[in-house]
Amino acid sequence: MRKIQYDRFGDEQVLEVREQPTPTIGKNQLLIRVKAASINPLDWKLYRGEMKLLSGSAFPKAVGIDFSGVVAQTGPGVTRFQVGDAVFGLLDTFKGGALADYVVATEGDIAPKPSTISFEQAAALPVTGLAALQILDQLAAVQAGYEVLLNGATGGVGMLALQIAKRRGASVTAVAGPAGATLTSWGADTVLDYTKQDLTRLSQRFDTIIDLSDKLSFAAAKKLLKPRATFVSTLPSPWSLAASFLHNLFSAQKHRILILKPTAQGLADLAALAQDQLQIPVEKVYNLASVRQAYRETSRGEVRGKTVITLD
Ligand SMILES: NC(=O)c1ccc[n+]([C@@H]2O[C@H](COP(=O)([O-])OP(=O)(O)OC[C@H]3O[C@@H](n4cnc5c(N)ncnc54)[C@H](OP(=O)(O)O)[C@@H]3O)[C@@H](O)[C@H]2O)c1
Repeated sequence: MRKIQYDRFGDEQVLEVREQPTPTIGKNQLLIRVKAASINPLDWKLYRGEMKLLSGSAFPKAVGIDFSGVVAQTGPGVTRFQVGDAVFGLLDTFKGGALADYVVATEGDIAPKPSTISFEQAAALPVTGLAALQILDQLAAVQAGYEVLLNGATGGVGMLALQIAKRRGASVTAVAGPAGATLTSWGADTVLDYTKQDLTRLSQRFDTIIDLSDKLSFAAAKKLLKPRATFVSTLPSPWSLAASFLHNLFSAQKHRILILKPTAQGLADLAALAQDQLQIPVEKVYNLASVRQAYRETSRGEVRGKTVITLD
């Protein structure tokens, strides 16, 4: 089978399509024929070597976290899925390997793919959708009437978080570059262009600020927070986790940091949202042979929403 691997850290040129043996499965495992996988910023942070502490430096390494496909084999102990079922899910975030013809998963890594969405849309959903749900419901507990600032609203997480925050009854100010102009049609109450507007000069105060750009610090965001508000960032590091923990002990303004927790229930919740007309922003679709081009364009910020790679 084909699999994307790399043997050294670097830009997208390190990614190679290789022939590998199809994996074998054991107890409680499923073999899934991948139909599509999607690109996440974590992929390029890993292959560039920006997360060596977490990924380690042993090679070869594989790429791709979330996928959709069809169950090809089930191992002993698998009870909830059968050969032929259409599914979507995600692999270990630091090991990856979804950019391959086959992946091995457990029942906890996957959920049935809703029939109302395509394999491409399903592959775009796991990481970004789980991130959006965990930020809004667990870290910020966004409720009806909350004023939410979403910084980085044209990205994969942002376009889902915008729609889910609106479903929770929040008022959303969406921030992005010039491509964000269309976000009102996705539900944004206000759209700001960060190339024209200095956020720190806003007079409005927010119940929740979610930074998906990695560019807004808690220190800068603080002046935009109401007295009992929450700031959420998505870049965990030992230092930021320790600093936020200490800060949260003594302040009513909280700084929460996302560490994605994949759960089968979360995937089922996303499937239900997808069946309830959540729009999944797949902007570009490539085949496996164009994987370098796909990563080059996406990592340069040239794609609004998600890039998907098909394995057919
Ligand atoms: N910790 C975790 O477990 C976890 C899990 C999932 C995701 N994440 C992280 O969450 C972040 C968002 O993920 P994603 O998939 O949505 O990324 P993405 O698709 O690359 O989106 C990034 C967004 O940031 C915007 N942006 C860039 N520069 C900006 C600036 N100066 N001010 C405001 N917005 C700016 C971009 O808008 P333009 O394109 O218009 O510039 C885009 O809307 C990434 O850093 C990802 O690694 C973390």
